[in-house]
Amino acid sequence: MKQSSCGLDFGTSNSTLGVMHANKPSLVQLEGDYPNLPSAIFFNYDDEQTYFGREALEEYIGGVDGRLMRSLKSVLGTSLMNETTQLKRRRVGFADIIAEFVFHLKKTAEAKTGTTLSQVVVGRPAHFVDDDDAADDEAQNQLEAIIKSAGFAEVQFQFEPIAAAFDYEMTAGSHKELAFIVDIGGGTADFSVIRTGGDRANSDRSDDILATYGVHVGGTDIDRILAVEKIMPLLGYHSKLKGKGLPAPSWLFNDLATWHRINALYSHALRTQVKQMMLEAEQPLLLKRLANVLENKKGHYLLNCAETMKVDLTDAERAHQEFDIGAEDFSIDVDRTEFAAMLESWLAAISGAVTKTLALAAVPITDIATVFLTGGTTLSPPVRELLQQRFNTSQIVIGDSLGSVGLGLTLAASRRFR
Ligand SMILES: Nc1ncnc2c1ncn2[C@@H]1O[C@H](COP(=O)(O)OP(=O)(O)OP(=O)(O)O)[C@@H](O)[C@H]1O
Ligand SMILES: [Mg+2]
Repeated sequence: MKQSSCGLDFGTSNSTLGVMHANKPSLVQLEGDYPNLPSAIFFNYDDEQTYFGREALEEYIGGVDGRLMRSLKSVLGTSLMNETTQLKRRRVGFADIIAEFVFHLKKTAEAKTGTTLSQVVVGRPAHFVDDDDAADDEAQNQLEAIIKSAGFAEVQFQFEPIAAAFDYEMTAGSHKELAFIVDIGGGTADFSVIRTGGDRANSDRSDDILATYGVHVGGTDIDRILAVEKIMPLLGYHSKLKGKGLPAPSWLFNDLATWHRINALYSHALRTQVKQMMLEAEQPLLLKRLANVLENKKGHYLLNCAETMKVDLTDAERAHQEFDIGAEDFSIDVDRTEFAAMLESWLAAISGAVTKTLALAAVPITDIATVFLTGGTTLSPPVRELLQQRFNTSQIVIGDSLGSVGLGLTLAASRRFR
């Protein structure tokens, strides 16, 4: 079979894989007609099969017994990578689970393109782990080993915001200008400052790249904030004991609102503890909901509802959500003003990272001709408003929010593995 190189964007929330087609990068349809695959895996305990992407999410939402995993990229470089997780009768490491996902991407793309994919340029955020260079290097090494174990012979990395810049350049024309690239996804916010219109055939563009910077702040943090602020109080967060103190610790609610930490809460010990808390709580009904959520493995469901509300607020002024957790059902309303207020410190972190990127590039903000936006989280109105305010003298160009990075990585692969 013909050998090809490809670009692989293993995202916290969505993954894409691209190959060159008629001299242009093109994303492979990884699930039906979709050019992306949600980075989700479901281990079905009934038929003992593994499901990926939208199918994985449907199995879980449909109530099939099993285990859902999302946001696996966030585990790279953390202590969780050294742990194993129970999948019915077997204990599996997170590296093996990610490898299974990458292998599925590779196999699907090979079947679709009729080629063998052996060389790959993989995207990486500016920082997998903030403020810890050793853990950050470790995260890239772990990902490289995983990608090789999935069957790729040659693996190279490219910063995701540089890949996005390459995608922007394809449509930008040949004139030279300074562009500020913004890629805010599920896990990280990544930025670069690049002089476009240089010698693009040259795979080393280091003279044109003035800065690359990023922070581990993304859309899944918005889901967490929304869940902690609006959903968790209805499950007993901040509620009181009949005597003194709080019945449940705040870490529990925080973990229940963090995609990659939910599964660890489904333990017999914690369920017993919550039942005990119910006996002592001033409002036992709230903790009964928490008990139901743990018993029926509804953690991902709750967070999915938070994510749905967030996405609804992109198009509407208000979002309404009904929650069905088996018993003690409830509903929640949020409007855009309340949403923006909740995001104050999240937005400040993004704004601080923009300032830092400009400082690293050593250019005044007024020299930025174009701001290019990609990543699903740039669709959110408070994020757009922040960027429009900060870059009020630049033109804003909207990229393919889920595809730009994958297309840019594919272009990078075609230049490097000529
Ligand atoms: N219409 C929308 N409004 C607001 N947020 C959205 C919208 N659509 C998607 N998102 C959010 O965008 C995020 C996913 O974006 P994207 O696919 O770019 O991330 P990713 O590439 O998987 O993550 P990362 O690059 O950080 O590893 C999710 O948090 C998702 O909820
Ligand atoms: Mg991304």
